[in-house]
Amino acid sequence: MKRRFAPIIDWIAHEGGVDPWAIHWEARQAKERGEDVILLSVGDPPIDTPVAVVDRAVAALRGGDTHYTEILGKMPLRERIAAMHAERTGAPCGAENVAVLAGTQNGLFVASLCLASHGDEIITIDPMYTTYPASIQASGAKLVRVPAHASAGFHPDLKALEAAITPRTRAIFLATPSNPAGVVLTESDCDAIAAIARRHGLWIVSDEVYAGIADGNRVPSLAARLPNQVVTLGSLSKSHAMTGWRVGWLIGPADLVKLVDELALCMLYGIPGFIQEAAIAALDHRVEIEKDMHDYCQLRRETLYRALTDIPRVKPYWPDAGMFMLLDVRETGLGSAGFLRGLFETEKVSLLDGAAFGRETDGFVRVCFAAEPAELEEAARRIRRYATSLA
Ligand SMILES: Cc1ncc(COP(=O)(O)O)c(C=O)c1O
Repeated sequence: MKRRFAPIIDWIAHEGGVDPWAIHWEARQAKERGEDVILLSVGDPPIDTPVAVVDRAVAALRGGDTHYTEILGKMPLRERIAAMHAERTGAPCGAENVAVLAGTQNGLFVASLCLASHGDEIITIDPMYTTYPASIQASGAKLVRVPAHASAGFHPDLKALEAAITPRTRAIFLATPSNPAGVVLTESDCDAIAAIARRHGLWIVSDEVYAGIADGNRVPSLAARLPNQVVTLGSLSKSHAMTGWRVGWLIGPADLVKLVDELALCMLYGIPGFIQEAAIAALDHRVEIEKDMHDYCQLRRETLYRALTDIPRVKPYWPDAGMFMLLDVRETGLGSAGFLRGLFETEKVSLLDGAAFGRETDGFVRVCFAAEPAELEEAARRIRRYATSLA
């Protein structure tokens, strides 16, 4: 019998042609073998989850919180997420607007399935986080790229955005702060994008996974401008050093959240109760934890930027927020893939190819700065040595 798999699986696995993570996995293995490798390719800070959060999970586990839970999440958790959103955006939000999901990534998939299908189009901003193409097109919708040019500091081209809209367009997916560029949409970007969505009756899916570590622990809010058409996604992954806990949320109009309930029943069946208890503790301590994480990232962003200035043919871009910095390596003439490979082979520094995030960042490489300052300084020394050797 000839075994067959669904086309989507093959498509997800090979989307983009080259595996952007190839150097990262190679570098990880080299590091495990004891080689002097610096891994700055992935956004997972080397910080432990706060003790109060771990303690709450352990107590809940010991207390027997190991059964099925409510599909959309425990009410006290949904209430806390709603309160956080209301505080951040200034817009009213209740538990009925919140679904607890397995991270922002799960939220992207759920939003895509709930908002679009075959024959529809979803607009995204290029560059975009690497999972966007597959998550969006899993719904059957066609992905339409609108550029955010380097020359505009990677802010979206709003004229191109409106021009890309057709009668088939259902939604605009974007991230603020963005990954890889670390761009926070300004109040005026948000005004313009909300006006476009209102004019054309479109959904906006606003991925705010890095919002908690932005300045003021919030970003200008699309949801505040257009609550009935905006879906806000987030998680505790980045703001609370909880990437492996897989807990996040989707916030949107109550009628959409009812549909998410139906979908999550078939897809997820709820997040483990003890993880939700940990999430409640994380939100109860949110102000201190987010401030610490913001300060952690800000210090490292400055350290890395300072260490990377005046390198021949390599230009760092200052991010508004998040944990990544783009380096423009176009002047090296190697292309981003060639630069990365050469850097890894000669200096054992692992970064990510900007081309994995879209056409606008082809020729750029992404550095994660959620690492120890001494390690960032050493990585910058090696990047400088490598770039200088290319002369
Ligand atoms: C822009 C963006 N969205 C979503 C995710 C996924 O985050 P989570 O851990 O909340 O699923 C990431 C992770 O790096 C990201 O950078």
